[in-house]
Amino acid sequence: MVIRNGQQTQLKGEVFYPAPEVIEAAHIPDRDRVAAEAQQNLAEFWGKIATENFEWYEPWERVLDDSNEPFYEWFVGAKVNIIHNALDRHMRTETRNRAAIIWEGEPGDRRVYTYQMLNHEVSKFASVLRALGVGKGDRVTIYMGRVPELVVAMLACAKIGAIHSVVYGGFSTEALLQRIEDSHSKVLVTQDGAWLRGNIVELKKIANEALERAGTIQTVVTVKRTGQDVEMVHGRDYWYHDLMTQPIAVASTPTEVMDAEDPLYILYTSGTTGKPKAILHTHGGYMVGTATTLKWVFDIRPDDVWWCAADPGWVTGHSYIVYAPLVLGATGFIYEGAPTYPYPDRWWELVERYGITILYTAPTAIRGLMRFGESWPNRHDLSSLRLLGSVGEPINPEAWRWYYRVIGKERTPIMDTWWQTETGMFMITPLPSMPLKPGSATLPFPGIDVDVVDDEGKPVEPNEEGYLVIKNPWPAMLRTIYGDPDRYVQQYWSRFEEQGWYLPGDSARKDEDGYIWVIGRIDDVIKVSGYRLGTAEVESALVSHPTVAEAAVIGVPDELRGNVIRAYCILRQGYEGSEKLEQELKEHVGHEMGPIAKPVSIEFVRDLPKTRSGKIMRRVLRARALGQDVGDLTTLAD
Ligand code: WT7
Repeated sequence: MVIRNGQQTQLKGEVFYPAPEVIEAAHIPDRDRVAAEAQQNLAEFWGKIATENFEWYEPWERVLDDSNEPFYEWFVGAKVNIIHNALDRHMRTETRNRAAIIWEGEPGDRRVYTYQMLNHEVSKFASVLRALGVGKGDRVTIYMGRVPELVVAMLACAKIGAIHSVVYGGFSTEALLQRIEDSHSKVLVTQDGAWLRGNIVELKKIANEALERAGTIQTVVTVKRTGQDVEMVHGRDYWYHDLMTQPIAVASTPTEVMDAEDPLYILYTSGTTGKPKAILHTHGGYMVGTATTLKWVFDIRPDDVWWCAADPGWVTGHSYIVYAPLVLGATGFIYEGAPTYPYPDRWWELVERYGITILYTAPTAIRGLMRFGESWPNRHDLSSLRLLGSVGEPINPEAWRWYYRVIGKERTPIMDTWWQTETGMFMITPLPSMPLKPGSATLPFPGIDVDVVDDEGKPVEPNEEGYLVIKNPWPAMLRTIYGDPDRYVQQYWSRFEEQGWYLPGDSARKDEDGYIWVIGRIDDVIKVSGYRLGTAEVESALVSHPTVAEAAVIGVPDELRGNVIRAYCILRQGYEGSEKLEQELKEHVGHEMGPIAKPVSIEFVRDLPKTRSGKIMRRVLRARALGQDVGDLTTLAD
């Protein structure tokens, strides 16, 4: 065994040490030295990185402006466009001919885009968008599956300074509608359908339904993928391939010169209450933060084939499928379909065929593949893999060990990266040279100051649970909630306002070695298969059904999916709970929100536990569902 589970250092618990060859081969700096440097002078640390690794049209006046906290600004006064770094500059070097994206469709069709080809496509689509009236600062909603055109659409928006708002292709009508309306998007880019497990997800049909009620969209661009008949509205709807062969599709489109702090995109994510929040990221800081973290944590090199198996519709895909790898000039692999289709070894076949060197996925996917046993991965040559990664929720040690032993053959360290839509980049994560503990995301990335504190903000004792807090700003941090700056302050900066700390909304423990163990959300966010869902959104989907008067949903632990949703409904007068209605309500949530939001069970109740001020006490429901003590009930109304 190359990596040994040894006793040589004093680290406590189950520890995996990287092999000397992993440490030596990794082109990454020494963590402790760099972390010390960053601690000494944060602005100098990021400023040096930003100077050495990226191209700016004009330099900044200040690396960090904290005069108006928590509205931090980075690389203030600099001119840049992330596309200049992700595409334009590569046209001048041999990277031009390197594969940017290797793609395989679920039916088995394959495409490769070199940087040159990708740039060509992006430039043309950027000029199409311009011709459709999209300008700097305009919002474009993108509702697609995992196809290369999704990446092209995102990059084309960025190139002309438009703000993309990608809506995950697994969401449905209501979720899409809300996000279009909140962002006031002008243009929607979608596709006829997406392949999933041999079936077609009818994206255009869902989009059409949403557009019956969404007033802001003037133009819809549809990519042809699955080929079934779809309804096209005359004067509003165009085919991507038609537009791309028109004279309006010009390959020499210039890249818009942007301020470093100009918006790059918004991405909706679920919070504690109410509607989803539009998290805003910018061109300059986001570029520096995402590319630097990817380079150091996954040690990306020119000959790597990097596979981030997330969906581009979530932040993982934005940062680590689309932007960071392209800025680094890396080769990324994208697979369209389901991991187990048509057989449970589809992923392993892909690793073998493309010689994937780094695989980054979610614990839920690992657990899902684990169920099918070792014989499926063992049929394939997985020896190209040299690093593995995990993200989205705490990884349970059994899944960690399986991933490490069966997929990594005990050679490949596992980078368990903790971060959020809001943070934009990895925050707590190992580097390949660090000793690992299964289930811990280890230590903060250099320059990130993290702690675990109690109600008053005092650090808790080792191994005790507390609030995770982030004590200083970082370049890829969200800048605000688009259209709702008050909520930005309230949601993230008010809990420890005096100290000026950011509250991610997770609870955690820190062990005696300083390793951080993230436990889970402290708010009403539920992580289902790593997807972030808000109780409020699922509840409002339920009450939009004519039979439901009130609804409450909770997350309960599930072996495969991390958590599943349980719902409690009070029916309107004259309706009776039944198995048939339960089924109908599940389908309704699926139709409104998307399949991932479907409750596993719905209980029909007469009452819901509420505080005197009328807030549903989900804690009481959860304790009851799990057969635990319901705890302090003094605030319960009845
Ligand atoms: C929440 C953020 C960041 C990309 C995907 C999710 C949980 C994320 C880990 C991890 C334990 C994790 C947290 C966090 N989470 N990564 N490695 N270990 N928990 O982004 O949808 O914004 O969700 O995911 O609870 O707050 P997101």
